[in-house]
Amino acid sequence: MGMSDETEVKKEAAGTGEEEARVGVFVCDCGSNIQGAVRCADVRDFAADLPGVVSAEEGKWICSVDFLNRMKASVQENNLNRVVVACCTPRTHEKLFRKTVAEAGMNPYQLEFVSTREQVSWVHRTNQDVATDKAKDLVKMGVAKARLLEPGEEIRLPVGQKCLIIGGGAAGLTAAAAVASQGYQVYLVEREKELGGLLNKIGTVAPEGDVAAELKATLVDAVKKYDNVTIFTGAKIENIEGYIGNYKVKVSVDGQETEFGADTIIVATGMAEIDCMGQFLYGEDPNVVTQLQLEGMLKDGAVQGKKKNVVFIQCVNSRNEQRGCCTVGCSVSVKNARAIKQADPDANVYVVYRDMITVKEEYVHLKEVMKEGVNFVRYDVEKPPVVQKADGSLAVKVYDVLLGQEVELPADLVVLTTGFCGPEGVSDLRGLLKVSANADNFYQEQHIKLGPLDFAAAGIYLAGSARNPKPMKDVRDEGYGAAMRASIPMTRGFVEAEGIVAKIDHTNCIECGICSKKCPYGAIKLGGEKGKTPQVIEALCKGCGTCAADCPKECIQIVHFTDEQLMAAVDAALEENPEKKVIAFVCHWCAHGAVDIAGVGRMEYPTPVRIVRVMCSARVAQRFVQHALDKGAAGVLVAGCEFPTCHYITGNYECKDRLEKLRKKLDKKGYDTSKVWEVWLSAAMGPKWVATQKEMVKALGLE
Ligand code: FES
Repeated sequence: MGMSDETEVKKEAAGTGEEEARVGVFVCDCGSNIQGAVRCADVRDFAADLPGVVSAEEGKWICSVDFLNRMKASVQENNLNRVVVACCTPRTHEKLFRKTVAEAGMNPYQLEFVSTREQVSWVHRTNQDVATDKAKDLVKMGVAKARLLEPGEEIRLPVGQKCLIIGGGAAGLTAAAAVASQGYQVYLVEREKELGGLLNKIGTVAPEGDVAAELKATLVDAVKKYDNVTIFTGAKIENIEGYIGNYKVKVSVDGQETEFGADTIIVATGMAEIDCMGQFLYGEDPNVVTQLQLEGMLKDGAVQGKKKNVVFIQCVNSRNEQRGCCTVGCSVSVKNARAIKQADPDANVYVVYRDMITVKEEYVHLKEVMKEGVNFVRYDVEKPPVVQKADGSLAVKVYDVLLGQEVELPADLVVLTTGFCGPEGVSDLRGLLKVSANADNFYQEQHIKLGPLDFAAAGIYLAGSARNPKPMKDVRDEGYGAAMRASIPMTRGFVEAEGIVAKIDHTNCIECGICSKKCPYGAIKLGGEKGKTPQVIEALCKGCGTCAADCPKECIQIVHFTDEQLMAAVDAALEENPEKKVIAFVCHWCAHGAVDIAGVGRMEYPTPVRIVRVMCSARVAQRFVQHALDKGAAGVLVAGCEFPTCHYITGNYECKDRLEKLRKKLDKKGYDTSKVWEVWLSAAMGPKWVATQKEMVKALGLE
């Protein structure tokens, strides 16, 4: 089925992109925020003389309601078809200005944003001349790009009311009941024979010690009471294809396949313990067990009153160079130590710990078990405990930090509180869903603060321990949360995708298939007579630009970020004194976030950098870097999101790889590759951005 059958393209306001550019420039004072360091009237006058500009205005606060009305009037009075705003940051205000110009009848994608506050006045406060010159340069770059902007179209996709939930543990069951209660069809797929996930393996749930079987029964009953839930157990997901509003799912149970359609997907696949084989005699002595094995033993009554000396060792495979705190180990140990002690008050129970990290009621329980006689022995990470076996008996030797001496604890049972990882099957599933996971096979959310229950791909959500280990209350809260996230498009009946998408011109296409292979979203399908012609499925495309950057024939462009537009900005920046300037291609997300943080923190840094914004570092083609060098730039910097996070799954990895290859190529061609820099930033790394500017300026001799 072609996209035209499935997508409803909402044409935005007028504009073909081919009419003569009539640019309006709006320069903001931002009170004294910009005006305090930049002579805004000079910038306005400078803008007025730039090619294509038909009006230039200055406003005290251009995001105020009054000025927005003025902007709309100006668009109409001056018949503007492009607008450049010079003000704060696109990360907070682009939507507002796009909406404003759209209300005035302009295509919102023909607005260009120039950041004269975060990139100029807040970071170059000491020299008004230099700051004003830089602001003029940025406006010139913005106008040069704006003149070439084409109209964009937002894509509206219909979304029905069927939700696939993968994983029938506590998070999946909670989500299933919450989605079903709204009358939407739920397909709940669990790979084990029984619903319940980890609740089947434990007797009680931390911190309160609720009976796991009872909780499971409550959750399962809450799902089974709905007729609109189809449950598959002992099931394998064979295939998932499509996108929000149009997933095709194939599930098999005992070799029998079922296919159905789904509109949204919730991933709640849970977690597993990290294998401890070979550590602390685990695998060698049956009396060394993991916490989860202990749970099973407690459930069967195999420990209570039967093991006199029990030693827990905390933080096994956690809080090391690979991963942080396992989050739940302390409260689980407290709960289980208490169960053993309460069953047999004469039992000697030791918890050998680094730090007991407990919150709220967990802390109350910790205090109580201390009074009840559970012993806590603190160890130092440099002197970890050792499990020994002599004459058939186990003992844990550990240097007690608080006593300041080594102690030896006899042990009938040693319990390893190990860290967690994603369960088996995550790799297959993430391939099908085209989502990312970290080194521990935990799925990677879209953004830890802005999209904690979303994946980067629209329509797929995640809940519970599929993301990272967490206590039961949080697992269930996330089950509700993911259900609500999935319900939003299902209730609304549609989603709107941004118009920043890839467009292919097949004229020079050699049908090499690289674009399709590289796309992290599977948004380029190969079709046509020979099955080799690439076609963009716009609903799936996120506009990262990987395909456009890697197309050997330069056949692919990204709306709002075409080669021509980006290079126009580069050329404008380098028209004068290129040898004193650094071109920085900066991704819109974390790297731009770091630039903004440097601004908000008023962190002064050298002025040579001229930022060209791209949505992802993956958009930065090798030819862009070479072009800037050919134009005489003192240096070129590529700034993207810190690894492993990229808002387009693997864009930063693609970019890094490309830069490495580029350096070799440039080297062969005789370029000075020490001019090509890269930096990978989280949104909080304003100081690192600043440090990079300082280092670059020094290394390039621009001081
Ligand atoms: Fe920042 Fe991809 S979004 S590097």
